[in-house]
Amino acid sequence: MGGLARLEYRGYDSAGLAVVTSDRDRVGMRKKAGKLVNLEKELAGRPLEPATAAIGHTRWATHGAPTDANAHPHLAAHGRLAIIHNGIIENFSALRAELQSEGVEFLSETDTEVAGHLLAREVDRGESLADAMRIITRRLEGAFTLLAVDASEPRTVVGARRNSPLVIGLGEGENFLGSDVVAFIEHTRTALELHQDEVVEITPEGVTITDIAGHTVEREPYHVDWDATAAQKGGFPTFMEKEIHDQPTAVADTLRGRIDEHGRLQLDGGMIHENVLNSIDKIIVVACGTAAYAGLVGRNAIEHWCRIPVEVELAHEFRYRDPVVGVKTLVVAISQSGETMDTIMAVRHAQQQGAPVIAIVNSQGSTIAREADAVLYTRAGPEIAVASTKAFLAQITAMFLLGIYLAELRGNKFPDEIESLLDQLEEIPAKIQRVLDASEPVRALARTMADERTVLFLGRHVGYPVAMEGALKLKELAYIHAEGFPAGELKHGPIALIEEGQPVFIVLPSPRGRESLHSKVISNVQEVRARGARTFVIAEEGDTEAANHAEQVFYVPAAPVLMTPLLSVVPLQLFALELATAKGYDVDQPRNLAKSVTVE
Ligand code: F6R
Repeated sequence: MGGLARLEYRGYDSAGLAVVTSDRDRVGMRKKAGKLVNLEKELAGRPLEPATAAIGHTRWATHGAPTDANAHPHLAAHGRLAIIHNGIIENFSALRAELQSEGVEFLSETDTEVAGHLLAREVDRGESLADAMRIITRRLEGAFTLLAVDASEPRTVVGARRNSPLVIGLGEGENFLGSDVVAFIEHTRTALELHQDEVVEITPEGVTITDIAGHTVEREPYHVDWDATAAQKGGFPTFMEKEIHDQPTAVADTLRGRIDEHGRLQLDGGMIHENVLNSIDKIIVVACGTAAYAGLVGRNAIEHWCRIPVEVELAHEFRYRDPVVGVKTLVVAISQSGETMDTIMAVRHAQQQGAPVIAIVNSQGSTIAREADAVLYTRAGPEIAVASTKAFLAQITAMFLLGIYLAELRGNKFPDEIESLLDQLEEIPAKIQRVLDASEPVRALARTMADERTVLFLGRHVGYPVAMEGALKLKELAYIHAEGFPAGELKHGPIALIEEGQPVFIVLPSPRGRESLHSKVISNVQEVRARGARTFVIAEEGDTEAANHAEQVFYVPAAPVLMTPLLSVVPLQLFALELATAKGYDVDQPRNLAKSVTVE
């Protein structure tokens, strides 16, 4: 149950457990709709026997509503075999019809149950569980991680993966499988990757990996560079709050030891030849949600420092619009989990067009990290709260590092300029800490706004992605309608939304930046205020003008213009956190969401 609790952030509309016990005819199973606590209650009332092997699942519904019946595991072979699944089996209708024609009865609406019955059919024909898994995965289309146990093989768990994550944990006298290392980090920090279309069989004594055809695969384990304490709340009431407070460390760790004595960026894996990076004429960033906003901040920096055009594309739109990508396009995939299916597919599409791909990823050994040509890890540590915070800041930092590296490599900046940029970045963690230490006013404001129905966020230049991120956090955590607009767009339509009392947050550019930009956004503040809006401004310390136009100003320390998002977003994260808390919502597991969106 500990492992399941750690994985609950990935999906939490139902949960279940199947165990192999001394009964060789049936596995023991409990499953319940709703959060894990419901399963815990069920188990307290109807405990399961001690197990020799077990599988457990927390679900984010795709096929079938979140009911007890649709919760995983699913049973087959008259209760002797149990299966759990992440992903979507795309050809499930045809397979279901085939099985029904053979007389198989289905107890749920899920695509998963199809895999269970297919597996049972092979085992009934005399195959071992692992052989049966290899046979059925050849017939399945789509994305899946499957784990199965069979009461007649009491010390074995078999797993398979295609396009969905699965990691192996190597313990002593025990081995583990999980969608994420957090599932078993309490027991071991030694992990093994499972690649695309591989099948794994674990027993307490050993692990066997094969490809789908049954050829044994040798794989070197890796050491997970954080421990179980990093995946705990550390004295904070929620993971979200803890992770917001982790941000100075996340940025500092992402920066640490990156640039060698020649000013060259140290990537964490893979390699793209300098000649290739010198010849690129365009960068396309592919990412989703918060990660895409990090891409937008990075775009401004890379274009300014390197004079290379940068596009930021939502990964799910990328391959469907026939983008112009080739060997001279550097594709940068940004993903906290490294398992977002939309981003994985964008990476594959880019590679098919011959583009080199750099991944900016937080999860070690994840699919995107593995498939990209080079990796720059954000060292934010495990992000458990479903809504992203510290990963966002670490992603922006990694984009800056990439920009600095390309600027150096391509001769856009002199070494002393590079050094000065790095020095400025190194000052950021302490400044984030100052924003955190001074957060009470924005939290107090949030507590008064629980009844708001809509909140608008305006920003310009690098403040625009910050405005969108502020709005996204509020939607996700507090279920309040929120929109982030470029401030310049206001007069082209959105200003019609302003009415008496409408709260508007404005991310004000630094007055030390382009003077005109500061004054233009000040004009935008005045325009909405004149129409009755309540204006709340995020401004740089020392910006005396800001207070003249705002009901309240939240100051952040001064920083180079391009780096300001690392500071200005923090009050907005805290605002959403506090408002959601005031409304009594679960900020770690907001409704309808899952941490890793491993389906397209
Ligand atoms: C928002 C959030 C999402 C993710 C997006 C991409 O708080 O968490 O918008 O940023 O789903 O996820 P990753 O970064 O794992 O690819």
